[in-house]
Amino acid sequence: MSGVQASFGNDAINGARLAVAEINADGGILEHPLKLIVRDTRSRADETGEVVRQLLDDDKVVALIGEIATDRSLIAAPLAQEKGVPMITPGSTNENVTATGDQIFRICYTDSFQAGVMAEFARSINVEKAAILYDPSDPYSAGLAEKFKADFVSNGGQIVAEEFYQKGDRDFSTQLDAIKGQNPEIVFLPSYYNEAALIIRQARETGIDMPVLGTDGWDSPEFLKVGGEAVNNCYFSSHFSPDGQTGKSFVAAYTAKYGTPPPPLAALTYDAVKITADGLRRAGVAESIPLRDALAVTKDFAGVTGPISFDQDRNPTKPGIVIRLQDGKFTYLETVDAKVTEAPVAEEGTNDPPAEAVPENAAKQPQ
Ligand code: PHE
Repeated sequence: MSGVQASFGNDAINGARLAVAEINADGGILEHPLKLIVRDTRSRADETGEVVRQLLDDDKVVALIGEIATDRSLIAAPLAQEKGVPMITPGSTNENVTATGDQIFRICYTDSFQAGVMAEFARSINVEKAAILYDPSDPYSAGLAEKFKADFVSNGGQIVAEEFYQKGDRDFSTQLDAIKGQNPEIVFLPSYYNEAALIIRQARETGIDMPVLGTDGWDSPEFLKVGGEAVNNCYFSSHFSPDGQTGKSFVAAYTAKYGTPPPPLAALTYDAVKITADGLRRAGVAESIPLRDALAVTKDFAGVTGPISFDQDRNPTKPGIVIRLQDGKFTYLETVDAKVTEAPVAEEGTNDPPAEAVPENAAKQPQ
């Protein structure tokens, strides 16, 4: 809730508080009120271990909801796994988070999926030459860059420039000049909102006026504040839009409580709390292991971000949303069905993707 990505935690907490208020107004769970304990990682991977230890050992939580950013979830997950406490991340999209073990679930789609959505989107606007700019030291940014590249190239696209930055950089002119020199038709920028907005502003000053494509890490009101006019003509993958197809009554309740429509992380975290409550009810006891077993068989849970069923890797198969930046605002562009790029749910025998998509998907399974 503080530090460089404070916006993620604050949105998440608002969603969690609304969910807890509704659950408790409804009589709680197993005849007890649900208690929400909130601790702040301050957006720091190096402080996350201690925060998680306090939640597990001092607070003795039954379930852990969080973290949001991948790098912190990668620290939290092994601790929760070791303790046998289910961890439900609302927003960490990197494959390795849930791959940590059978206690770790996520409410969002994965990075393979969102990289595929944006590669597909680039092709849909006839892009053949793309540049990539990313932070190789950040698992979220690096994972997405790699997956986008594989997808885009396997579909006949060409990566004409690959440039790097480091967390905390403020001047991107060297990388942007190099990108400009290669004349790409889009730039793929998988990063978090603060850096993304700054990079795009400098790109526009350098004369890079083509669309910049990004991912869910852009999703914050801060992106618009810092980016201003410069971020028009950009697109990114998101999890939820108040103008999308799901969660209408949630949007109304959230707007009534907080005076603004819910950002995606509020919606994802609301779903994380509600799914945990549902799991506890089905477990019939407020204990971690029965809760984990109940969560693992979650089927068609009616989330505000869409129906949620966990696959055997504890990832939901969900549609994605593409957001367009227009007139200094996030505008809902389209919903991309999960089956376009996600691995087919073969056992179910339904919604099989076209045959040619199968080998490509097979190559995109968690490493
Ligand atoms: N997907 C991002 C990560 O894994 C976190 C995020 C989720 C950011 C949703 C914004 C919205 O780090």
